[in-house]
This record gives sequence, structure tokens and C-alpha cells, in this order.
Amino acid sequence: MDWGMENRMAQLIQADGRCMFLPIDHGYFLGPTRNLEEPGKTIEPLLPYSDALFVTRGVLRAAVDPAKTKPIVLRVSGGTSIAGHDLADEGITTSMEEAIRLNASAVGLSIFVGSEYEKQSLLNLGKLVDEGEKYGIPVMAVTAVGRELEQRESRYLAMCCRIAAELGARVVKTYWCADGFDKVVTGCPVPVIMAGGPQADTEGEVMEFVHDGMQNGSIGINLGRNVWQNEHPVPMIRALRHIVHDNGSVQEAQELFDSVKAGEPGLASVAS
Ligand code: 5RP
Repeated sequence: MDWGMENRMAQLIQADGRCMFLPIDHGYFLGPTRNLEEPGKTIEPLLPYSDALFVTRGVLRAAVDPAKTKPIVLRVSGGTSIAGHDLADEGITTSMEEAIRLNASAVGLSIFVGSEYEKQSLLNLGKLVDEGEKYGIPVMAVTAVGRELEQRESRYLAMCCRIAAELGARVVKTYWCADGFDKVVTGCPVPVIMAGGPQADTEGEVMEFVHDGMQNGSIGINLGRNVWQNEHPVPMIRALRHIVHDNGSVQEAQELFDSVKAGEPGLASVAS
């Protein structure tokens, strides 16, 4: 691996081999999502507990202080909206030159396997990888499911992740699934990061799936709504960080959540 590529990967994946990305790219197809109306305010208390931000160039320039940030994974696909015909009909919205200008550590793009636009999104990925490899910028492929959240089962996710890796993604972001997530990870020759999806009913559910995913080989998370739409986003991100970076149990994470929420400094036994 060339020095630049290796250096950028090291900015994203921490020395323990794990990572915790904070996605705030939702506006690119959803508009001003709840609790992300003013992204600068949303991220301010969360940045210390994040390893990288997943963000579009517009929000990066408008709402992220270049002197107080974390490594950037730049969202470079889009062109559709939740109000439009088909979310899968994406193109590449941002050039590699722009990613370099913004000092991005990686670029991220969605693929829509099984959709009408499967081929288009996969060719987008191939082109982006060609460009990224030229300049030492890793590509994170996002295995998107559009509105079809029920597609989150292991055979489908394993296929998406493998295809993304075969086309050259350096990292793949996919959904956790209850059965066979280990097969999703082992079938993918590059690191797998878990996405979140819409806000779950309880924080415990999120801690459970993050813990299970980490036990089954994922190297980290890219969770947005389940962090910043939680009523207590800082306790939530700290609890998840404890699972990801400290190998914490669900019970410890819940205790950390409760104690940070109660305004305590955190459990003495808990590092995060
Ligand atoms: C949208 C994305 C988001 O980054 C991803 O959905 C993560 O956010 P959340 O945890 O809120 O789902 O890639 O396609």
C-alpha cells in the first residue's frame, strides 16, 4: 500500500484496529433531518468521541470548523431525494479534485445491489476507486437498501459487501443482521463497518446489535440517527464507544450511558 493510502487508512482505523465514524450526511437525500437541522451544533459535543465524520462537501464547508474537526470521509454520491422516483438512481456528485482540496481522508459512495440502478451504482464505485487509487484516497462503499429495509438479511448483505470489495472499496459499510452477520464479514476481504438505520425504540437495542456485530468481526460503526436523535446523544456515543474501542459489554455500556446521563463523570472501571 502506498504511503498516502496507508496514512489515510490509519487516520480512519485507529491503532486498536477499530473505528467509530459519525455520519451527518443524511441531508443529501432527506433534507433537514430531525436533530441535524444545524449540523454544527449537533456535532460539537459528539466530536471528541468520534474518529471521523461522514459528511458532504456542503455541510463540511458550512458547518464544520476546519480547525476543530476529525478526519473526513466525504460523501460523494447523490443526486436523488426521498421525494423523488428512486433513491438508487445516484451519480457521483463530487470530484476527486474537490476531495483532495477538502483534505478528505476517504470518500464514500452508495451502491444499490438488486435495484434497477445496480449497474450504474457499481460502475460509479469502479470509477471512484480508479480515481481514489490514483491519489491514495480510500473509498468506502455504502451498501444502501433505499426504502427496502427488509432487505437487511445476511445472504443479500454478504453479496453486496463482497461485490463492493471486489470492485476495490477499501472499507465497506453495511447493516448488521441478527442471523449470519459473521458470514457477511468473513465473505468480505476488506474491513466491514456497521451502519445504523432509523432510530431504534431503545438505546439497549442499539448497544446489543453493536456489541453483537463487533463480536462477529465488524471493525466499527457509522451510526448517525441512533446517536444524535437519541434524547441523550453524548451518553449514547460514549456508551457505543466503550463497546467499540474498549471491548465493553452491553451491561457496562448501559451503566456508562446511565451514569453520564445522570451527570456523573462515568464509571471508574470504564475507560471511555
Ligand atoms: C445514508 C448513509 C448514512 O451515513 C447512514 O445511513 C448512517 O446513518 P444512520 O445510522 O442514521 O443510518 O450512508 O445512506
